[in-house]
Amino acid sequence: MSVVALVPAAGRGVRLGAGVPKALVPVKGESLLSRAVRGLLDSGRVRHVVVAAPADQVDLVRAELAATESAHVVAGGAERTDSVRRALDEALRVVPDASVVLVHDAARAFTPASVVRDVVDAVEAGAPAVIPVLPVTDTVKEVDETGAVVTTVDRTRLRAVQTPQGFAVDVLQRAYAESGDIATDDAGLVERLGVPVRTVPGHPDALKITTAFDLAVAESVLAPAGE
Ligand code: C5P
Repeated sequence: MSVVALVPAAGRGVRLGAGVPKALVPVKGESLLSRAVRGLLDSGRVRHVVVAAPADQVDLVRAELAATESAHVVAGGAERTDSVRRALDEALRVVPDASVVLVHDAARAFTPASVVRDVVDAVEAGAPAVIPVLPVTDTVKEVDETGAVVTTVDRTRLRAVQTPQGFAVDVLQRAYAESGDIATDDAGLVERLGVPVRTVPGHPDALKITTAFDLAVAESVLAPAGE
């Protein structure tokens, strides 16, 4: 079965480095985006990766990935869902027989290959949608608008969701065709179709690099010394 991966990286909001979009922030000389794309391809299970870049930075992102033949770059859209739609169209143009599609955050640049493989295996084994998850270790409380605690949530049933999220191609296509909504993850759109979403174990190394602290962790722990 052919597997393609989409990496929506067309957002501008969060910036970790001086004037650089988050996906292009380097860790020991290699950008988060380049590491994320390399990680997907190095899993040995992904044939092509399509990155959605900010419309005015397509050339910059193409240059960043120039050495990677199986990486393709398209202009993203106004919302994340628009960017994923455009990347999905391009992915199906490049690999028309794709049966599995992954959607992966560039910020999860250190996701182990085993997680990518577990997600792909589960979709290939027949699950229509698969997400890697970790148990929630903090106590979680719901609060009202004043900040007062409403209730303590039972964390034994909660999971923190990572990427790559994997889908049978027709399921993701349907989710995007039938939902004009904005979602924080792709599995959320699939859930709205009533399609079951399966979980596989995630990994602490697949953390979303969001803050300067996360970046420092990546520099000192995740990027092997002497790289
Ligand atoms: O803004 P947020 O953190 O939710 O974005 C999640 C991901 O979606 C980021 O990788 C961002 O680059 C991407 N995105 C996109 N196109 C947009 C907005 C966000 O590809 N229009």
